[in-house]
Amino acid sequence: MPSIDPHTRLFGVIGHPVTHSLGPAMHNLALSLTGINGVYLAFDVTDIPSAITGIRALSIAGISVTVPHKTTVMPYLDAIDDTAAAIGAVNTITNTDNTLTGHNTDAHGAVTALEEQTGSLRGKTVLILGAGGAARAVAYGAAQKGATITIANRSRSKGEKLAADLNARFCELSDIPSVSYDILINTTPVGMHPNTDGIPISPDALKPGTTVMDIIYNPLQTRLLREARKRTCETIDGVPMFIHQGARQFALWTGREPPVDKMRQLVYNELRVRQ
Ligand code: ATR
Repeated sequence: MPSIDPHTRLFGVIGHPVTHSLGPAMHNLALSLTGINGVYLAFDVTDIPSAITGIRALSIAGISVTVPHKTTVMPYLDAIDDTAAAIGAVNTITNTDNTLTGHNTDAHGAVTALEEQTGSLRGKTVLILGAGGAARAVAYGAAQKGATITIANRSRSKGEKLAADLNARFCELSDIPSVSYDILINTTPVGMHPNTDGIPISPDALKPGTTVMDIIYNPLQTRLLREARKRTCETIDGVPMFIHQGARQFALWTGREPPVDKMRQLVYNELRVRQ
């Protein structure tokens, strides 16, 4: 437990709902291990303009933004960095002398999670399932690292729009068996608790020898990852992306190196207890 005094800096997450957020456990561990006098709380927020006024009025030092507010916060901030502007979503707010800047660390989180397992993404082909906010961040990050992207999505119009924004290809979910790829990433909610039997594509469309990442971490082993392992694919669960997006937030707020391995260990332990 940190000692709280008049110098303690306040950080937190705004979302709705936030009761299951792993952010407080992860960031409070990082604050305590780096000896920073700060605490991180979860704020269940529905009124975004008032929340932003509160951040300014109380000089809150840094905020994570989660579902459903990643787009709606944007007009209330003083600046948006280039990555968040390109993705069209903010998951992090920094507060520098009452100037609030929106950032997006999800792209960094996804790319770091992939590259620590597969090596450089340059020249790799990446097939992304979904075209929502999470898909935009993952696809943007992978494209920036030199990967060739294909977007597969249930609704054609949304999928084609994301593909066009990134100069990428679009394909129907049913056409996946004819698409060649090195890495497949699920960004849809299909397979998430409580609908754990769900799988976003037919298991037979999974190609042996490829890498399959699911950004879902509840459950840790989604049906997609279980089927992928049966077909000798390498798999990456949703924890590494979560850890690395949080680590980048921590670095933005504090200027300090985050204790990534300890954060990872804590999140896996916490999820195993919950699941
Ligand atoms: P987020 O911002 O978390 O990515 P989102 O914007 O709601 O969430 O996007 C969810 C994505 O998962 C969308 O691409 C959605 O497909 P549609 O564009 O067709 O809505 C996709 N998705 C959600 N449920 C799905 C399902 N049951 N089968 C296939 N795709 C699904």
